[in-house]
Amino acid sequence: MLHSIPLSELSWNVFEWIGEKWMLVVGGTLESYNMMTASWGGVGVVWNEPMAFVFVRPSRYTHEFLMKYPSFTLVFLPESHRDILEICGAKSGREIEKMRLAGLTPFSLEEGGVAFEEAEMALSCTTACRQPIEPSSLLREDIRRAFYAQGDYHDLFIARIEGVWRRK
Ligand SMILES: Cc1cc2nc3c(=O)[nH]c(=O)nc-3n(C[C@H](O)[C@H](O)[C@H](O)COP(=O)(O)O)c2cc1C
Repeated sequence: MLHSIPLSELSWNVFEWIGEKWMLVVGGTLESYNMMTASWGGVGVVWNEPMAFVFVRPSRYTHEFLMKYPSFTLVFLPESHRDILEICGAKSGREIEKMRLAGLTPFSLEEGGVAFEEAEMALSCTTACRQPIEPSSLLREDIRRAFYAQGDYHDLFIARIEGVWRRK
């Protein structure tokens, strides 16, 4: 069960939580949503507001939801649910009903957006800016070669953190 906490009580290591534990980016509403695993992103202060940012390729089904709905959720699952993160990072919602396979219990957060009862933490976010990564703005050739050989450049979504939800 998640409960809302003030942002000031959020003390966590973003490299561990996002980079190592991974997260689900959940777009849409309870009626229609999709989710994908992400290990790139972060949080910080932009335009004097608390913001989260994620990198989502336009080819992802989740991208459609981030474009269509103003809000999305970053959901952090416990280690015991690593298999779900692996499925949601390997299969597209276009091919399989991830929501059913995942066996998670979705619910709607107060601020809008979808989280799961099983989560350790969730951040509800409202998109403020979408910025495609432009090939010309990428200064490192090794990154271009490693990640963009197919030309599938990410979109950067910067979103205001509206609420922080933690398991009791
Ligand atoms: C550990 C891990 C991290 C990932 N991080 C990202 C990411 O930050 N951005 C992204 O666009 N895709 C990322 N992916 C790939 C998507 O999760 C994957 O393509 C997924 O199947 C997309 O699902 P969808 O088409 O239902 O949105 C990651 C996959 C894994 C396994």
